This record gives sequence, C-alpha cells and structure tokens, in this order.
Amino acid sequence: MNIVILAAGQGKRMRSELPKVLHPLAGKAMLAHVLDCALSLSPSRVIIVHGHGAGQVREAIATSHPDPRIDWALQSPQRGTGHAVKQAAPRLDESTSTLVLYGDVPLIARSTLLRLMQSAGPDKLALLTVELADPTGYGRIVRDAGGRIVRIVEEKDADETERRLREVNTGILVAPTGPLRRWLANLRDDNAQKEYYLTDIVGMAVQDSVGVASAHPSEVWETMGVNSKRQLAELERSHQRSIAESLLDDGVTLADPARIDVRGTLRCGQDVAIDVNCVFEGQVLLGDGVRIGANCVIRDARIEAGAEILPFTLIESSRVGPSARVGPYARLRPGTDLGEHAHVGNFVELKNTSMAAGSKANHLAYIGDASVGARVNIGAGTITCNYDGANKHQTVIEDDAFIGSDTQLVAPVTVGRGATIGAGTTLTRDAPPDKLTVSRTRQSTIDMWKRPVKPSRKS
Ligand code: UD1
Ligand code: CA
Repeated sequence: MNIVILAAGQGKRMRSELPKVLHPLAGKAMLAHVLDCALSLSPSRVIIVHGHGAGQVREAIATSHPDPRIDWALQSPQRGTGHAVKQAAPRLDESTSTLVLYGDVPLIARSTLLRLMQSAGPDKLALLTVELADPTGYGRIVRDAGGRIVRIVEEKDADETERRLREVNTGILVAPTGPLRRWLANLRDDNAQKEYYLTDIVGMAVQDSVGVASAHPSEVWETMGVNSKRQLAELERSHQRSIAESLLDDGVTLADPARIDVRGTLRCGQDVAIDVNCVFEGQVLLGDGVRIGANCVIRDARIEAGAEILPFTLIESSRVGPSARVGPYARLRPGTDLGEHAHVGNFVELKNTSMAAGSKANHLAYIGDASVGARVNIGAGTITCNYDGANKHQTVIEDDAFIGSDTQLVAPVTVGRGATIGAGTTLTRDAPPDKLTVSRTRQSTIDMWKRPVKPSRKS
C-alpha cells in the first residue's frame, strides 16, 4: 500500500503563523495523528504532499516521526487536490494500491480505512463517503439509477438537483496505482475553480470500466476536516468525548465525561475514579483503585494501586507508589519516585527525588536531587539547598530521620539513619545517625530589657 497525505494547503482561516496541519489536537499535530494512523496500516511508503510552511512541516515531522517510509513531495503552487496527488505520483509503487488521506482530517480511524481498503480490493477505486443533513461545500456523489457511482461533482460546479444530493465525498479514497497515474496525467482544470480536481478520476474510472466502490466511516466526525479554530475545537471535543466514553466502558468512574482531557494515552486499572477538570498528557498509568481529585494535571506518570492524588496537583515524569497520597496543591517534577504509603502534602515541590515507603513531607517544602529513606518525616518549611549557582548537589536522608521544621539542608549533605534535626537548622555538614543535630543560637531572655517609649510631649 502507498499512502499519500495531502498537506500543502495554507489554512488561511486558522489565522495563524503555524502551518495548519501542525496545529495540535489532543496535544499532537493534526498531521501527526494522520501519520500515526497511516503507519499503523503498514504501508510500503507514505508520501506527504506539502507546500505552505514546507520547512516547518518537514522539520516537525522529522522530529516526531523519524521513519524511513516517509517521503516528501513539494507542491508549489497549490492547484487542486488532483495536482497535489500528481506531485507524489512518480514515487508510488505501482505493484500496490494508493490510499489518499488529508493532513487536516486528523481523526480518521484505522478500522474505517481497513474497511475502505477491503471494498477497493486489488483493482477497484473506493471512495469514503458520508450522508450529511447539510452537504454544503462538499463534492456530491452522483449515482446512477442502479446505485452505481458515476462521478463526483464539486459544489461550485453542481446544478440545482446535484446540490440536493446528501451523500458527499470525504476526499479519502483508495485507487489502483497504475490507472491512477494515467488518470492524473489526463486531469484538466476547465472547471469553476480552475483547479485540477482529484475527484475527476471517478468519471475516468467509470469510462475505463474500473469498478467504483464506496465505504462509510464508523463516526462522521472521523472524516471532518479542520479549516478554522472553531472546527478544531469541535473536533477536539468529539475526540475527548470518545476517549471519555471508552474510559467509562472500561469501568473508570468519571465525575463528568465532558470535563476530562486526555492528550496521549491513559491506561487505568479497576475502580479508578477521576474527578472533574483533570488533564492527562503523554503516557499515564493509573493502577487499581487510584483516585484523582479535581483539577489535576498528570503527565507521563505511573500512579500505583490505591494511591490518591488530591485536587490541584501537578505531576510530571514521576512514579507514585501504592497507597501513597499526594496533594492538594503538590508539585512532583520529573524524576520523583514515591514509595508505598508516602505522603506529600500541600505546597510541597519534589524534583529528581526518591522518597521511600512511609515517608512524609506534609506541607511547604522543596526537596530536590535527594534520596530520602523510609519512614522519614520532613517538617514544614524544609528546603534542600541543592544548587550553588553553578552545580546541583545531592542530599541523602537515611531511614527514620526526622527533619525539624524550617531546616535548610545545604547539599551535598547526609542525614544519618534515625537522626533528628532540630527546627530551624541550617545543616552544612553531615548529621550523624541517631543523634540530635541543631544549629541555632541558644535562646536567651534579657531580664532588664525595656521597650523604647516615645518621648512624652510637654504642653
Ligand atoms: C475536496 C474535494 C471534495 C470533498 C472535500 C472534502 C476535490 C476537488 N474536492 O474539496 O469533493 O468533499 O475535499 O473536504 O478534491 N490540498 C493540497 N493541495 C491543493 C489543494 C488541496 O494539498 O492544491 C489539500 C488541502 O490542504 C486539504 C485537502 O487537500 O488538506 C483538501 O483540500 P480542500 O481545498 O479543503 O478541499 P476541496 O478541494 O475544497
Ligand atoms: Ca479547494
């Protein structure tokens, strides 16, 4: 299978500097969605026809999809969909058919394309069509009395009767490659838009007695294109709705299926519950019984069974161990690894830090580049001074240590097993195990001290 993706159009109505096909849907460029779907069909090659913002488009895809099957054809200027496919024609492998996709129709499903390919077989032309209540703007599918497709007429070239047809061309099609090349060479631009219409190959196929079949998508929104931010926002909602529905089908409890956004892959165990307004990005795994409070953002994370994430928590590239509790208002930055039953409370920030089983930092702390043992208690206001302005240094806190409130741990430094650090300590040298270490001036009271008073005014 050859796959051609049309992505040369400008997308003026997006009113953006960014080429249209690079606008993200569910956190991923529209073109990347189409490419992922295309590559999942194991094509021998994928040719992307590009034009507007060519450099930017190529660079973005080279980074996100370094796949040797991807090839590029430049179309400049853009003279219609037929002209676009023609730019890719020399690179097509004639021994297999060609599937045409659009870079701005991001949600086309693999299952739909498999059906379309099935109806094309080895030697037929197959069109993906849908029935629309309002077909305005689309090419209409014209069938004969026997229901056979005879041609596609573009809206601007259609007469009154044709405009009333409600079956429309989605633009996605499969064609036998040899005949396709021949038809493309014969396209003319003598139409209302002075463009080379890909759709004209349908009439040519009928002329050549090549069978023309059709297939339909499972959901109409799969075939919807994006020309404006409005349409992009509508598709985003359709997509999120469908993700939410499959989570519900898998047994996940969603407080409101209209208020969850998944920009990547969210995998959930049994009896997971997610409150409103949560965003999941990248690869996120929620183990059995995990509960996520309202307004959390979780990116590339593994939350193990029974853990609870309380509202307004941000987690990135981290692991939260079984039955741990995080939040509200906690921030786990990349490289955080929490053990079983660990507790991280409000206004605590962790970075590149592991905290073993049963350890707690319940309020107001910054722990970075640290290795914290088991059953450690970190008091409010504790900070690791891990950065000296040039380099980052490690802090090690061994099992069962107790860090008093408002302690500064000036790294590199180690707190020994079972050590206690007195509140307000600035720890600059290692604290030995099992002892109290404190660095603060002894408290004193001045008996004879008197508060200053204002001089009394004499009258
Ligand atoms: C095309 C179909 C129409 C169908 C509609 C579905 C033709 C002639 N018409 O309409 O039957 O109902 O899609 O949306 O094929 N593109 C290029 N180069 C070009 C022109 C277009 O790469 O020179 C790309 C666009 O970026 C877009 C896609 O092809 O991704 C479709 O182009 P667009 O102008 O939106 O479609 P129409 O030609 O209006
Ligand atoms: Ca057009």
